[in-house]
Amino acid sequence: MRKKIVAGNWKMNKTLEEGVQLAWEVNEFLKQNSTSKQVSVILGVPFIHLAELRKIPKKHIGIAAQNCADEASGAYTGEVSASMIQSAGSEYVILGHSERRAYYGENDETLIKKVNLALENNLQPIFCIGESLEDRNANKHFDLIEQQISKALFHLSDTDFKKLILAYEPIWAIGTGITATAEQAQEMHAFIRKTLSRKYGESIANQISILYGGSCNPSNAKELFNNKDVDGGLIGGASLNAENFIQIITTLS
Ligand code: PGA
Repeated sequence: MRKKIVAGNWKMNKTLEEGVQLAWEVNEFLKQNSTSKQVSVILGVPFIHLAELRKIPKKHIGIAAQNCADEASGAYTGEVSASMIQSAGSEYVILGHSERRAYYGENDETLIKKVNLALENNLQPIFCIGESLEDRNANKHFDLIEQQISKALFHLSDTDFKKLILAYEPIWAIGTGITATAEQAQEMHAFIRKTLSRKYGESIANQISILYGGSCNPSNAKELFNNKDVDGGLIGGASLNAENFIQIITTLS
């Protein structure tokens, strides 16, 4: 069976102290509530939080970086490599987020390098894909998503591909308070799974968790997660508050 996952994406929020407090609060809840055991909970946090948050037992919470460098090491001032992230105890890295694509010029070529480095360093990529409203209105969204997936990921072997988690995040829904409807989410997730299955076969496609992201919150999570091909969520704003994030985890449990 596919893993159900609720992953938080804190983006550039929370001081170290605030982040530590939030993460331990979530951990405390998970420790005490066995119903949430079927759900993997991951926190996507700023680099400086990684080592400190890894003091939380792996049993309840996985830790993700939100990016990694596209080079292995060397003279790249300000960059953080996949091996450094791994050495801080993280298991995951969010890659291809639309904010990184839009504001930092990340393209398919950069992402291929990042995905490869993440996998070489035993980090599981949480790979984000998503279309703009313009693309959707022009009815180009399926083609665009297919391209985002095939260009950055289809060079991977079956074994490596199975390590991926995908996150469908329509850009028009991120941080806007507008969510995709349950139908739109299911339609796209099913399309994504079909795309994976054409390349890697049905069995592998059925093993990949595909998360929905974009203004997911405690009041709409249930409707979104109730869909056959939606295996959980990548949560931005609502992951910054323990109560909201816990409610979303409970929804999926
Ligand atoms: P949001 O962000 O939940 O605040 O819309 C989701 C994301 O960007 O991962």
